[in-house]
Amino acid sequence: MTVIIPGSASKNLATQLAKTLKKPLIPIEIKRFPDTELYIRITEDLTGKHAVIIQTTHPDPHIMELFFIQAAAKEAGAKTITTITPYYGYGRQDHSFKTGEAISAKTLAELISVHSNTFITVDPHKKAILNFFTIPTQHCTAIPEIATYLCTNRDIDLVLAPDKGALISAQETAELIGCDHDFMEKTRINGTTVEIKPKNLDVNNKNIAIIDDIISTGGTMAKSIKELKKQGAKQVTVACTHGLFVGDAIKKLQNAGCTDIIATDTIQSSYSKVSVAPSLAKLLK
Ligand code: R5P
Repeated sequence: MTVIIPGSASKNLATQLAKTLKKPLIPIEIKRFPDTELYIRITEDLTGKHAVIIQTTHPDPHIMELFFIQAAAKEAGAKTITTITPYYGYGRQDHSFKTGEAISAKTLAELISVHSNTFITVDPHKKAILNFFTIPTQHCTAIPEIATYLCTNRDIDLVLAPDKGALISAQETAELIGCDHDFMEKTRINGTTVEIKPKNLDVNNKNIAIIDDIISTGGTMAKSIKELKKQGAKQVTVACTHGLFVGDAIKKLQNAGCTDIIATDTIQSSYSKVSVAPSLAKLLK
């Protein structure tokens, strides 16, 4: 018997997944002590059950919560634990860029593996991150769902990646929509500043979708939108799997002249227009 356990970062998605799979959603008690320390309790007996925990590892307090939910599931007798981290936070620190740096993606993977039998995520920043886990892993992509949304709601002529790293996603999205794709040339200066090279693209009077795995500060997308508008694009829609929308990211995108902002429910926000529940359900089945 499989049961779904929702972490507080992924309640909506867990509910959706439980409905899709027709599996029970197990309530958990989550409290904070006056000194902010976390208290987690699972009252239901999970003896012999397969527990599927869903918790995005962003921001940091949700990571500690995930570890305690895993431990509580074990204490409650779960036979196996599957951890679904819809958005795998820290995925971008996947190697030492400078000597002495923590490889955060690796550390987090090792810690998640301690109390879990399987790990599942959606559109990891790089697939190689999955090798850091010491347990079997699976992943799925939100690209088909994003492409379906774009097909239904926007008349897209061209799909662009903001950099070469997102080119495969742009290509897959374009193939599903049945339009062209290309990429822009991004250079990251630091955590909040990027440069988009004015590459000459055939965007005049076209409806463009820019696709990336993550929108964080919105800097990458805002710069890309401005460049495309300068080159005569009619409408620019931005889409991502993981919408972190840090600080004034949404304002930046709107001020740059964005027509629509699309994200999935790996991180719940008012821009979660696409659900990854069907893809996760397929993996779990
Ligand atoms: C980086 O490699 C990622 O794919 C995204 O392009 C990046 O995280 C976006 O960050 P921001 O929204 O802060 O420009």
